[in-house]
Amino acid sequence: MSPDTINEPGVDVTSRSNADLTARSLKAVWHPCTQMKAHEAFPLVPIVAGEGVWLIDADGHRYIDAVSSWWVNLFGHREPRISAAVRDQLDRLEHVILAGFTHEPVVQLSERLSALTGGALGHAFYASDGASATEIALKMSAHFWHNQGRPGKNRFIALEGGYHGETLGALGVTDVPIFRTAYEALLRPAATLPSPDSRRAARGEKAIDVAIDAATALERYLERHASETAAIIFEPLIQCAGGMAMHGPEYLRRVRALCDRFDVHFIADEIAVGFGRTGTLFAHEQAGIRPDFLCLSKGITGGYLPLSVVLTTDAVFDAFYDHDIARAFLHSHSYTGNPLACAAALAVLEIFEQDNVIETNRDKAARFDRIAAPLGADPRVRHARRTGMVWAFDVPDAPIGFPRTFAEVARREGALLRPIGNTVYLMPPYVMDDETWERVVRAAQRALDASFA
Ligand SMILES: Cc1ncc(COP(=O)(O)O)c(C=O)c1O
Repeated sequence: MSPDTINEPGVDVTSRSNADLTARSLKAVWHPCTQMKAHEAFPLVPIVAGEGVWLIDADGHRYIDAVSSWWVNLFGHREPRISAAVRDQLDRLEHVILAGFTHEPVVQLSERLSALTGGALGHAFYASDGASATEIALKMSAHFWHNQGRPGKNRFIALEGGYHGETLGALGVTDVPIFRTAYEALLRPAATLPSPDSRRAARGEKAIDVAIDAATALERYLERHASETAAIIFEPLIQCAGGMAMHGPEYLRRVRALCDRFDVHFIADEIAVGFGRTGTLFAHEQAGIRPDFLCLSKGITGGYLPLSVVLTTDAVFDAFYDHDIARAFLHSHSYTGNPLACAAALAVLEIFEQDNVIETNRDKAARFDRIAAPLGADPRVRHARRTGMVWAFDVPDAPIGFPRTFAEVARREGALLRPIGNTVYLMPPYVMDDETWERVVRAAQRALDASFA
């Protein structure tokens, strides 16, 4: 497959070329998560329009967004119902300070999110990005213990290969060296305990054995350190940025029981895996438990606007409710609970209901499995795996430079794919159809072949 050149109705691709936008961007924009010098060899892709699962560059080439633009775009680009909700909100109120004021979209969204957790997590604290949600959950947990007269409970537990964002607090609980090493001296490191990553199963072992071992390691740690531990934070079911490491719900059940036994908070970072990614609206539902803090972002607005939220319990909220200002949670961000973002999030929740997304995705994932099966069976591929709407496989003997070569060839084949090290993953928007998925799988196969050529 090669990207078709098009003239999209309503998209002016004549006045700006890829070359022009790329040159100007490289001069003026410092791109995220990028060694800028690498763009001497690998071109930037200047996108001028999006339509469904497609992204369209300034020269009119089309790319399938097979990673949902960093995992945020659940329902494709320019989804009419989300666009209409944002437009409607634009005509009412674009923003208002959330301290001392409130507004309809934030109230409605908080009520709906609470209802979606069965009322267990009925207090919503907002921010703009995932890392801010991590910071809020960590601070709120430690401050809770402080307010309870147990200020010594201020350390955190995280998992090997876990990722929670790039701010300093979030990096302290993140175990991905490439993002962390340069800032090590600035961090307050968490205790890093074994991951339940099912790939760790030795010959004769099952995934559940790995999960039980990981939970046992947590138990041993808490036996010694519960009195200084505020919370454990991890990504339920899929540790995404660490390489799409997957585990089953049993680990969550065991963590919940240990947190109850040792008086430690359970922070579920569902920033990447929330909103249907794992096959249920929230990943933790599959374990039949609730965390003490649920961090959400990314898909919450369907990729329209930055928004994150930490949901928590009555018990946590009540520990801050007092005449004393010092016992309050005085954290804030300027765009906290932005009405436009909340309107987009409400439209996303509507779509989940209207389109019966969770059920539809279940059937779709089974069909996508069949289409992707030959790729998973490639002799160079190991640990082909899927949870919900996330497919991943490892390429253990990949040549040096694999992630870049793979991404570059896939792009030329018309698919946006970005391996994490030697792990290739596919995280499609939920609206992808079978035919487009076939094109993605074909692009991935060609990229794999070309990487070994
Ligand atoms: C699990 C998880 N937590 C936190 C974050 C940080 O979110 P943000 O990039 O919006 O700050 C990410 C981002 O990839 C993530 O995957």
